[in-house]
Amino acid sequence: MASRAFHLLVSAIVLSSAIVVSDAAGSVGINYGRVANNLPSPEKVVQLLKSQGINKVKLYDTAAAVLTALANSGISVAVALPNELLASTATDQSAADNWVQSNITKFYPQTKIEAIAVGNEVFVDPKNTTKYLVPAMKNIHASLVKWKLNSSIKISSPIAFSALQNSYPSSAGSFKQELIEPVIKPMLDFLKQTGSYLMVNAYPFFAYSANSDQISLDYALFKDNPGVVDSGNGLKYHSLFEAQIDAVFAAMSAIQYDDVKIVVTETGWPSIGDENEIGASEENAASYNGNLVRKVLSGSGTPLRPQDPLNVYLFGLFNENKKPGPTSERNYGLFYPDEQKVYNIPLTQEELKGWQSTPVKTSTSRVPVSGEVKTQVGQTWCVANGKAGEEKLKAALEYACGEGGADCNAIQPGAACYNPNSLEARASYAFNSYYQKKTRAAGTCEFGGAAYVVSQRPGMLFYLLNYK
Ligand SMILES: *[C@@H]1O[C@H](CO)[C@@H](O)[C@H](O)[C@H]1NC(C)=O
Ligand SMILES: *[C@@H]1O[C@H](CO)[C@@H](O)[C@H](O)[C@H]1NC(C)=O
Ligand SMILES: *[C@@H]1O[C@H](CO)[C@@H](O)[C@H](O)[C@H]1NC(C)=O
Repeated sequence: MASRAFHLLVSAIVLSSAIVVSDAAGSVGINYGRVANNLPSPEKVVQLLKSQGINKVKLYDTAAAVLTALANSGISVAVALPNELLASTATDQSAADNWVQSNITKFYPQTKIEAIAVGNEVFVDPKNTTKYLVPAMKNIHASLVKWKLNSSIKISSPIAFSALQNSYPSSAGSFKQELIEPVIKPMLDFLKQTGSYLMVNAYPFFAYSANSDQISLDYALFKDNPGVVDSGNGLKYHSLFEAQIDAVFAAMSAIQYDDVKIVVTETGWPSIGDENEIGASEENAASYNGNLVRKVLSGSGTPLRPQDPLNVYLFGLFNENKKPGPTSERNYGLFYPDEQKVYNIPLTQEELKGWQSTPVKTSTSRVPVSGEVKTQVGQTWCVANGKAGEEKLKAALEYACGEGGADCNAIQPGAACYNPNSLEARASYAFNSYYQKKTRAAGTCEFGGAAYVVSQRPGMLFYLLNYK
């Protein structure tokens, strides 16, 4: 224990001096995804970003309300042209012109748009829009040239890490053969010609989760670890993230594109996952994101490109409750929709100083700040099913508060949590009280179909009702 603590202290000192001497730090931005029905207004979000010292944000569209809220905020914005528009943009220059006019020039320069992501993870788009990608990028570029914006706004397109055929060892990185001629080479040519960079989405979490028997968790989380030597070039890696990024550099080199830079447009780690999503936890998410920020702000690059500072956008700003897929998908946020932090990590040089001296706060040792909520991994809640209908909900509510023995004092008329307008909210309160009281045993959150289990902390109001 003592020697480990000493080791951590030494690394902290070494790291902090590295930060002092480096002048060009990388940048930390954040993805502002909005696949949710409970997020704060864009104006509030801009305040949140500013209060956190975040000055780069990436969007998945060009929503006018968001771009307007970001005007004169000092925050740089990467916007996106959704995959659904790739075909029309690729085949019709006037469609591209119209899009740029109504979605870019209308907001620029008040809103500091610095990049346009044309499509997102296009090669894995189920509608296979790959053939439209480069033509769409070129048409958008031609539109920017007309407006003389081509030197201010970069065009690129985030690729999923799965565009690689091979990523281990890093030096053997290669793109999928079937993508190279049709799209990778034309895209890299375009990026070179326009002085842009490759956008890459990289999630070491997926690799770790699927191979947790082979990949060390410390390595995946940028924690102290002995390192992994790349058998191809002898370089030593201390994080899976850097190994992944270098695999992309190697894949580009393999087809003679050595001088294209990379911006990591998405990376993150979920704070909650399903049982089979090994590694998803609040503590691991805090370690991954916090240590990543430390790495990026140190200004150092990867073993293959040590001089190139890393530029990343974390994924993401909020937990997004309407995202389909496994539980992890809805739990990548640094913030709950009520703007409370899911966990504490540094986002700026200032915060980093304090964070380093207490390496990685663990869930157990952490003292929640006032109003902050701690979610246990595997924690579940019971909520009312609004679709069950009034009759069923009323009957179930009566049962839960009566025979069921749920604590329903707070939802009696006149009590603090009585909401006359929402039977569903009152029923959720009662059902969850019953469910927790029965220690979440199987079958205690059914109420004949009037209730269901969620593995995501319900909204703030619900939280206050239940856990004050
Ligand atoms: C932006 O582009 C969309 C298509 O994505 C278009 O429907 C819309 O009219 C454009 N303008 C604005 C202000 O949203
Ligand atoms: C997607 O389209 C490209 C050509 O545009 C084609 O070569 C490729 O096979 C398609 N992929 C799938 C999975 O359908
Ligand atoms: C922008 O376009 C103009 C006109 O084609 C060209 O001269 C200039 O080099 C371009 N700038 C960049 C950064 O691509």
